[in-house]
Amino acid sequence: MVNDVTIYIDGKPLLVKAGSNLLKVARQNGFNIPGLCYHHKLTPTGACRLCLVKIEGMRGLVASCTISVQADMKVTAFDQELESTRKFLLDYLLSEQNDDFDFTYNDELRDLMFRYGLDNHENRFFKPLKPSSDFTIDESSPVLTYDPSKCIKCFRCIKACDEVQGKNVLSFNDRGMGSYIVAGVGVWGQSECDGCGECIQLCPTGAIVEKPNRNAIKVNNIEKKVRTTCPYCGVGCQIELLIQDGKIMRSNGVEGVSPNDGRLCIKGRFGYEFVHSSERLTKPLIKRNGKFEEATWDEALTLISTKFNELRDKYGADSLAGYASAKCTNEDNYIFQRFVRTAFGTNNIDYCTRLCHASTVTAMLKSIGDGAGSNSIEDFETTDCLLVTGNNIIETHPITATYVKRGAVKGMKIILIDPKWTPLVKYSTVWLQPKLGTDVALLNGMINVIIQNGLVDQSFIERRVEGGMEAFEELMRLVKPYTPEKVEEITGVPAAKIELAAKLYGESATAMIATGMGLSQQVTGTHNVFSLLNMMLVTGHIGKDRCGIDPPRGQNNVQGATDVGCHPTMYPG
Ligand code: SF4
Ligand code: SF4
Ligand code: FES
Repeated sequence: MVNDVTIYIDGKPLLVKAGSNLLKVARQNGFNIPGLCYHHKLTPTGACRLCLVKIEGMRGLVASCTISVQADMKVTAFDQELESTRKFLLDYLLSEQNDDFDFTYNDELRDLMFRYGLDNHENRFFKPLKPSSDFTIDESSPVLTYDPSKCIKCFRCIKACDEVQGKNVLSFNDRGMGSYIVAGVGVWGQSECDGCGECIQLCPTGAIVEKPNRNAIKVNNIEKKVRTTCPYCGVGCQIELLIQDGKIMRSNGVEGVSPNDGRLCIKGRFGYEFVHSSERLTKPLIKRNGKFEEATWDEALTLISTKFNELRDKYGADSLAGYASAKCTNEDNYIFQRFVRTAFGTNNIDYCTRLCHASTVTAMLKSIGDGAGSNSIEDFETTDCLLVTGNNIIETHPITATYVKRGAVKGMKIILIDPKWTPLVKYSTVWLQPKLGTDVALLNGMINVIIQNGLVDQSFIERRVEGGMEAFEELMRLVKPYTPEKVEEITGVPAAKIELAAKLYGESATAMIATGMGLSQQVTGTHNVFSLLNMMLVTGHIGKDRCGIDPPRGQNNVQGATDVGCHPTMYPG
């Protein structure tokens, strides 16, 4: 547990967590110390030196972003010497930089320039050191441009790509004044950059900016900002849409909130153009004489209700059905299922889970009483062991995968079960490639290894599993023939790898399972998941912090659609 300590900034006592970052704490408490290379999601760099403070007992001026607070620390955040040093440093930074600001992006450097009165060139000591024409803009990426003449070499983009997104695409080339950011071996568009835009969001100067709407957007003309949920995958990232002239001009990740803490993937950041597509249906159309014609809402609704009533009267209520959407809100889905059940008078209501995780949910409901995932997304970084099966998590749930990659860097063990290569292979401790349709045998083999090696949590089974040790012994008898060698024959996975994977899962203090379509969309889908659940229950890796099973969903409100009753077997609530 981290203790609270008292520190003093400009004489003001503050109760803060021991070890927290001094610059962060100061800003949170209203001390607006400047600083360009610090960002709360990144490790401190100490490059720009603008956040200098004085600390009693320390020599000279120190960069507050590199300091962890200690009890009774006495800090001077603002005095004449500090402010003129900051102004001097900022002046120097500006002399290296092309300050031809065009107001198409948020610019922390520009804000500081105004704050210190350096927008007036007569107040500057340093003359521009290098004309911006000496730099080459990299426009090779389809989604962003990099202008080295605006770059202050703060490292935020490099760390954003590496520490936040786990991609490590960027580095510096050259030295001193001539240094600049490179992606891969030099050309952004030919690098491994996948266009997530984290570097754009964290760049403090507009050196890296979005291409879409590049010349149309003006940050001072933004009419409103709309906080919403990304419409794509099941992560449900929080985004902020910038609206100008009634159009979405930009999508930023919302910092400091779950599940994404500002991160987005290329879909969430750039995939909004469909909203304004001319191909979207915005008015009702009625087919007359084989051709669709525009109609009023009254005409359309009257026609629809008449036809539905005719069908119901002629063939009965069960001749009608409703298909909901996991991309709609809980409110929309609630009303929809209610309409189907009351106005139609039928229980024929369903939605896309039928095509994806129905088999998973069937197994989970029966085995543990709930089809929802056990964990928060942050747990994907902090659990000791993650078993990923039938789930190309880096491509299908890119933001969840950023947590997985960060965990892998810190030593999390990853067991990957997938017949085909996915990008997660390079982060995995062990990769098992079973023949198609042999998952139950593989998992039975892993359970057998767990039992043979004494990795069973007997106390958990006795206390929490129906049937207790008697049920366990039945399972033990069932999996006994599945020796690693026998399972190798069935699955093609080497026995040594089966043993290694089972021990990694069984020996870890905390362990999670992320299961996907590759496991559920098989004729034995439900039994595959039963096998996973058996392994989880014998090791007691459920009902505890950073343990459990998670079926990452395909759309952003699958669980909500089920919860409000868009399912033939579930009523709302
Ligand atoms: S867009 Fe994403 S992947 Fe590409 S360089 Fe920036 S942070 Fe890295
Ligand atoms: S491109 Fe932006 S974030 Fe990257 S080093 Fe330059 S100024 Fe910093
Ligand atoms: S913000 Fe502290 S050195 Fe840049």
